[in-house]
Amino acid sequence: MLTKPLQLKNGVIIKNRLAKSAMSEALATTDNRATDALVNLYRAWATGGTGLLITGNVMVDRSALGEPNNLAIEDERDLPRLTRWAQAATANNTQAWVQLNHPGKQSPKLVSRQPVAPSAIPLGKQFDAYFHQPKALTQGQIEDIIQRFATAAAICKKAGFSGVQIHGAHGYLVSQFLSPHHNQRQDQWGGSLQNRARFVLEIYSAIRSAVGVDFPISIKMNSADFQRGGFTQEESMQVAEMLAEVGIDLIEISGGTYESPQMTGRDMKASTQKREAYFLEYAERIRSRIDTPLMVTGGFRTAPGMADAIDSGATDLVGLARPLAVDPAFSQKLLRGEAIKYPVKPRITGIKMVDNMAMMETIWYSRQMERIAHGRKTKPNESPIKVFVRQTAVSIFRGFKTQRLRAN
Ligand SMILES: Cc1cc2nc3c(=O)[nH]c(=O)nc-3n(C[C@H](O)[C@H](O)[C@H](O)COP(=O)(O)O)c2cc1C
Repeated sequence: MLTKPLQLKNGVIIKNRLAKSAMSEALATTDNRATDALVNLYRAWATGGTGLLITGNVMVDRSALGEPNNLAIEDERDLPRLTRWAQAATANNTQAWVQLNHPGKQSPKLVSRQPVAPSAIPLGKQFDAYFHQPKALTQGQIEDIIQRFATAAAICKKAGFSGVQIHGAHGYLVSQFLSPHHNQRQDQWGGSLQNRARFVLEIYSAIRSAVGVDFPISIKMNSADFQRGGFTQEESMQVAEMLAEVGIDLIEISGGTYESPQMTGRDMKASTQKREAYFLEYAERIRSRIDTPLMVTGGFRTAPGMADAIDSGATDLVGLARPLAVDPAFSQKLLRGEAIKYPVKPRITGIKMVDNMAMMETIWYSRQMERIAHGRKTKPNESPIKVFVRQTAVSIFRGFKTQRLRAN
């Protein structure tokens, strides 16, 4: 099942059923440009046999970052660098799609003095030390951001990437607009589900106008926010129907936010963990309502678990993140039927606050991606506490450099 190609409705073929889900690399320069490290990392993944590589989130506005050293695409100034990156990522007949994102209020103090959001509602109290209170976006700012997604997508196409993905999950700006908790606007962008979905629908249609019908556009969506007063499973299904109706090419299903990080499998029932995929139940339900190809991400670890999910018809693609950060050739080994050892286990420091926010799940795996990018072997048993201390110091230093650059 896993080796069978998937043809999208627009004719694009993904050579097998394994897809790398987005993982923020934070490997760009301080001024957010592509680097050789990114080229190396994607060459390793493209060689590793995965059919579809979705890049880590790329920002559409360099003044609104999710973390220091994110890549940003605002105009064509970096086209030659982006082209080199696309060449490496599309080698070996691999589809390579760029995930486009705006973090909204999830832009930390380290890189943002004034984050923006649909409404001026802060993240939960536990985040006060890390994030400033956001300012509500004006109509003009909303229109500007929509256009930025379209501009960035057109540049990705020109650089040679094979598609794009809108990051509509995990509590970033698109997901903030969808959430009745984070979006309490009284205008056409808030209130009813139709109004809250307007932002993502407008982004989709602006991108589509910019890239044409043959270029795949995907979305990563939350099956739910898992937050009181947040975006529910039923609402998520209705938004999936709206996107299917306008012609989105692939829907990736995830779930959770910084405030409730379900995407990492935290707090999942043992039966769900055992079944591998965290969000398969949602996929089974949405499958009867839309015929858009689906990708489910979160928790897949073994070939039988993945093949069962495809075989059952619940999903068309299996999304993989953490296993590929430890072993870039994980897919190739699975496809060859090699008996590979489960390379992912919880990364815990023992510091309650850090472990509660599931920060280690990104910090530890980012460190492994950095090793691959610099031509080194990953360290599957690297000490979480050591990595935490190192990466925190690096992040603060990089945040300081970002601020200094902006001040000049
Ligand atoms: C280091 C790291 C960075 C991540 N960055 C992103 C990102 O930029 N965009 C995104 O949609 N998800 C991101 N995720 C979430 C993953 O795409 C995925 O949804 C999650 O890790 C669950 O899949 P897994 O169990 O296969 O790891 C990230 C995860 C990790 C570990």
